[in-house]
Amino acid sequence: MQRKLFVTTALPYANGGFHIGHMMEYIQADIWVRFQRMQGHQVHFVCADDAHGAPIMLNAEKQGITPEALVAKVAAEHIAQWPQFHISFDFWHSTHSAENVELAQGIYKALKANKLIVSREIEQFFDPVKEMFLADRFIKGECPKCSAKDQYGDSCEVCGAVYSPAELKNPYSALTGATPVLKKSEHLFFKLSDKRCVNFLQKWVEETPLQPEVKNKLAEWLAVDPETGLRSLNDWDISRDAPYFGIEIPDAPGKFFYVWLDAPVGYLASLKAYFAAGGAKANGEPRDFDTFLADNNVEQYHFIGKDIVYFHTLFWPAMLHFAGRKEPNNVFVHGFLQVTGEKLSKSRGFGPTPSKYLDLKLNTEWLRYYIAAKLNDRVEDLDFNPEDFLARVNADLIGKYINIASRAAGFLHKKFVGRLLKVEAKHPVLAAITSSSAEIAALYDGREFGKAVRRIMELADLVNGFVDTEKPWELAKSDENNAVLHKACSIIINAFHLLTAYLAPILPKLATDAAAFLDIKGYDWSDTTRLLPAGHQINPYKHLMSRIDKKQIDALLEAPQEGDKDAPTAASKSSNKSAPAPANDEALVPAEFALQPVEAPKPIIIQPVAETISIDDFGRIDLRVAKILDAEYVAEADKLLRLTLDLGIEQRQVFAGIRSAYNPKELIGRLTVMVANLAPRKMRFGESQGMVLAAGDGTNIYLLAPDSGAVPGMRIK
Ligand code: MSP
Ligand code: ZN
Repeated sequence: MQRKLFVTTALPYANGGFHIGHMMEYIQADIWVRFQRMQGHQVHFVCADDAHGAPIMLNAEKQGITPEALVAKVAAEHIAQWPQFHISFDFWHSTHSAENVELAQGIYKALKANKLIVSREIEQFFDPVKEMFLADRFIKGECPKCSAKDQYGDSCEVCGAVYSPAELKNPYSALTGATPVLKKSEHLFFKLSDKRCVNFLQKWVEETPLQPEVKNKLAEWLAVDPETGLRSLNDWDISRDAPYFGIEIPDAPGKFFYVWLDAPVGYLASLKAYFAAGGAKANGEPRDFDTFLADNNVEQYHFIGKDIVYFHTLFWPAMLHFAGRKEPNNVFVHGFLQVTGEKLSKSRGFGPTPSKYLDLKLNTEWLRYYIAAKLNDRVEDLDFNPEDFLARVNADLIGKYINIASRAAGFLHKKFVGRLLKVEAKHPVLAAITSSSAEIAALYDGREFGKAVRRIMELADLVNGFVDTEKPWELAKSDENNAVLHKACSIIINAFHLLTAYLAPILPKLATDAAAFLDIKGYDWSDTTRLLPAGHQINPYKHLMSRIDKKQIDALLEAPQEGDKDAPTAASKSSNKSAPAPANDEALVPAEFALQPVEAPKPIIIQPVAETISIDDFGRIDLRVAKILDAEYVAEADKLLRLTLDLGIEQRQVFAGIRSAYNPKELIGRLTVMVANLAPRKMRFGESQGMVLAAGDGTNIYLLAPDSGAVPGMRIK
């Protein structure tokens, strides 16, 4: 059955250019969307700029332009960039739009009619010079705990204390330096504490297949209070006083919606504008926005980062539900992309920004492939590791997959005018590939892209193994072998075709180029099991993708020179204390809502799996259990230990580079594994007669040991 999907990514603040974390989110969503489209499903994939809020207003003021002008400038930059990363949004809109005003005000009125809006007086810091209420981050002062100067209104960067702005010593406005005064104001609240809301959310959370981490967090937020025995949520302050860049609240002059109220409504506004612009016409019929959204068969999904879960799993479903609309079917949450352990927020303005990536003319499909290879369905941070990036692209993507085409296409053209023979669908290599279709589809559908990539590369290994045994380059030496050569090349090209179909959601441009080379119209999922017809003629092979040069990565990561357009400004540096993105931080969730600590895991570089070898290749290595009879330091070598090994039938001397990890004494008597038939090697201090095996990541070393019961001399196979 054809699914109808409405898919969004979070709306980036219109306060500055994209950073690579945004691109990662779009790539994740785009791969999923492209996969669903390949399945024949109907997908509407939209995004927009999140235009409102005090930071954007103030930023525009600083630049001497109107907020509208700033937002337009940023939008132009955004719109120029995402297509270059092959993100297939159907539409890009803005929350500062007629559709959004109408929808946000409509939803608000419905909530009000449902008696879920209350007015309450609050006391807040006010800048008497700027005549403006100050969000916590615009108030600075001395830490109440350690007295460090110039700390923000919510927490101390020196001692880590968390407090409220009222507790700061000698507070001052970060905007004007004036001493803020406490001032009363009427604010409007969405009554999330209402029993109806709490009950609804409880049920929504139960019925929605949220990720386990998200479910757990929600269970905490919705937990029963041990004192009152009740579930409770705090009411949500949804109004801000002028001056504010936002949407006016109906019947409340001088009051605006807090940016996070109208931001998710922007998802709907973008879809509405898309339909109105004539997008997604089915059979020439214009699509009606209201009918579409009310359709129970439409599935609504939001891809977001872990910092904005609260907004999307509490406020948003509740807003929709009590305004008489359908709630999201699910919210797909990802972790943060970090650059070799450093938070991207800190490196904002340098490091691998999308602008820089494009300026350097790097292939954007490299990034798509790398991100895909690292993604899973969990809320886990990922590390952008330059060496890993290079290795995965060069060794796997190019080395294993792209090269398959070039290994056969030349011979097909030289000898058989590019025509394919009929190949057996049950040929083991082809059958292995086609029979993985359902498994790989399930991985894509479940957002397990890393696992999908792994499976596809395993299949590529199989194909390369076949090429290595068939040796087309040997066969091509004599015309006598033409029949065998022709068959082998036809199998190889078919295998390449099938693998391309699998990779198409990740590498859409490459799939288009490959389709042109193979002279087919394009890819959908049925191509993962469909062979090219007998007699089909392919075009001459032209280079499909090149390797990354180490220099390109270095250039990408290089800090910008003074004056570069990417150079961090004082403002962007200081305004990014802990925000994950171009911050609009009055919107930030309190620390207790953060899903996981954002501390970077130590990067582990998993090297790509090496070229496939045959069982015979492996059989040539004589691996034996060996007992370490003696181990000692080598005076002239600071990395080596001299080991005397008992091989059962004889003794060997081996110099092993494990000194940094082992004390010789602790090794004596242990069993390990050695390569017994390695050619001996003369070293300055004597001959090394073999090699012991150890695992390692370049820093740490772990000597292998057989399970207990093994004795010296046993063969390992
Ligand atoms: N404007 C709000 C979202 C409103 S949605 C109705 C916002 N904007 S943002 O520009 O700060 O972030 C946009 C998206 O990028 C969010 O999903 C956020 O989690 C994600 N990311 C921000 N930094 C990121 C990384 N370092 N890595 C991955 N995603 C990141 O929040
Ligand atoms: Zn402090």
